[in-house]
Amino acid sequence: MSTPLYHGGDYNPEQWLDRPDILKRDIELMQAAHVNMITVGVFSWSTLEPSEGDYQLDWLADIIDSLWAAGISVDLATPSGARPHWLAEQYPEVLRVTPERQRRLFGQRHNHCYTSPVYREKVRAIDQQLARRFGRHPAVKMWHISNEFGGECHCPLCQQAFRDWLKERYGTLEALNKAWCNKFWSHEYTRWEQIESPSPLGADTDNGLDLAWRRFVSHQSIDFLKWERDSIKAVVPEAQCTANLMYHFYDIDYFDLAKEIDLASWDNYPTWHKGSDEGKALDTALMHDLIYSLKGKPFWLMESSPTMTNWQDVSKLKRPGMQLFSGLQAVAHGSDSVMYFQWRQSRGSFEKFHGAVIDHSGRADTRSFAETCQVGEALETLAAVSGTGRPKQAAIVHDWPNQWALEDAAGPRNAGLGYWEELQRHYNGLRKAGLAVDFLNQDGDPAPYGLVVAPMLYLLREDFAEKLRRYVENGGTLVVTYWSGVVDENDLCYLGDAPHGLVEVLGLRRTEIDGLYDGETRRCVATREGGTATGSTLCELAALEGAEAVMVYDEDFYQGLPAVAKHGFGKGTAWYLATRFEPAFYDRFYAARRADCGLAPAWPVPLPEGVYANRRDRFVFVQNTNNKPVDLMSFVLPAYGTAVFEDGKRIY
Ligand code: GLA
Ligand code: ZN
Repeated sequence: MSTPLYHGGDYNPEQWLDRPDILKRDIELMQAAHVNMITVGVFSWSTLEPSEGDYQLDWLADIIDSLWAAGISVDLATPSGARPHWLAEQYPEVLRVTPERQRRLFGQRHNHCYTSPVYREKVRAIDQQLARRFGRHPAVKMWHISNEFGGECHCPLCQQAFRDWLKERYGTLEALNKAWCNKFWSHEYTRWEQIESPSPLGADTDNGLDLAWRRFVSHQSIDFLKWERDSIKAVVPEAQCTANLMYHFYDIDYFDLAKEIDLASWDNYPTWHKGSDEGKALDTALMHDLIYSLKGKPFWLMESSPTMTNWQDVSKLKRPGMQLFSGLQAVAHGSDSVMYFQWRQSRGSFEKFHGAVIDHSGRADTRSFAETCQVGEALETLAAVSGTGRPKQAAIVHDWPNQWALEDAAGPRNAGLGYWEELQRHYNGLRKAGLAVDFLNQDGDPAPYGLVVAPMLYLLREDFAEKLRRYVENGGTLVVTYWSGVVDENDLCYLGDAPHGLVEVLGLRRTEIDGLYDGETRRCVATREGGTATGSTLCELAALEGAEAVMVYDEDFYQGLPAVAKHGFGKGTAWYLATRFEPAFYDRFYAARRADCGLAPAWPVPLPEGVYANRRDRFVFVQNTNNKPVDLMSFVLPAYGTAVFEDGKRIY
């Protein structure tokens, strides 16, 4: 039997064990809402192991059995996202230490050291209890490892692990000192023990150290995830594992993390109805596409709020139709599930006002419950979409070490580089041109894409520069922006002409870069047709060495220097964008590139404003981000409406 599209969400029955009537009612309501996948166990540790070694799993067995009897599968979480009091009390080393070297008190979640052998051992013990008891239960289709990995710990154990990791990476202190430019300010190390993680009390402006620490934190978090995964797989080798990822996440290199899990999933909490819904839809779409790209295959939408999100500045309700739009948007971009946080709203504590399918009234005749049912029905209709892939058309390079290094440097604009804003502008232009967009890191392969965009690729690895060069030589179209090819993988500036590794490909070289104040702009004009554009944020100055200037700066002392340049290299074409343009520039630019590259948009004719199409294999989704109906000639899409076609025939 093929896998359906999953519908459900986080459920914390341990909060309701004294209310069997509610537990029973939940199952009936889940069935009514077409729910077929429920996540249990997130943050359940104190109920599963109330004191050390006292495992109480019967309540969970009852819940899993009742869910399964009702035809509902289970995504079983390990409870390591938060620990019980006894664990922190008996073993204080499990609690995190801040960058100021202060041991935290018990409380919050994610407040644990990823290195602590005691924490690891206790986590393995509870994970293996769960795996032995439930690993072969037919309901358990997925393991949800911990919850939203993130953060860092500066305890002595982590310091030691950091030094060991550095020894492995650099071999000798001499090599490390050189790679980090430690003669600067006399920061050379003479003993490994002198190395400390960055701290506001100590070194926090040493870029080489900072970048190495970011890599280490990412490595150590992933190592902890592997520890949990392997604990489960030691008992149930065929177990499928996921980890729920987050928006614009910084701490962990998700491309590295994704190699260690079977399925990528993420938690999506857009601030809908704040500013333009179209803008928010594009922002969300970028994230769906990034998560899809991590494994190059369908992912799960693990969490989303059916109504409001209580930790945001303002908890705004989703307008009618938005829950359905938002769920189907995930599917259109490659999700095989629509899941919520959470099924039933908790009575007390921090999340008592977070949106849930069932609120404190316990009623099923609510607006959100009705919309949840509509999502469930839609996912049943669209079941055949499950598992289908997306075309490879355009790719944007997004690389964690690049972002870490880029944002850590002092200059050229400490007032904000707007890295995500830069990615988003390219992304929006590509989407408005109707293209499918993947994301690549520097381990990725540009070859299958018709168009590759490298925005602000400040840290450019030699091997990736070489891949880009070959890509263009073989006929690819590459777009490179300002502030690319600046440093190597240790954050040491390349010597010689820049953008390093791409001078020949782009047919030009950077001479200087000018930081602009907020609100400052530079007018640019086309050299042939007379169009104009506006640069902002950073204006790079370049000398042409074979490329043709398509637009030039039209003011300031750099008037006449290239703002947009084009260069034929081998069988392909390289484009250079010297500054950050206004959003409309990218719409025109990528519409033209799509045409040059001969890439087919997901929908054959131009779509009305705010309407987007996505292809998954033989299925095409068309969605209206407007809060008003739009006429597409052959059909009308209501406000926030979705239509789905299979081989051209409308099925939804
Ligand atoms: C995160 C967590 C959930 C819950 C939600 C609330 O995504 O994973 O446990 O706290 O936020 O939005
Ligand atoms: Zn630690």
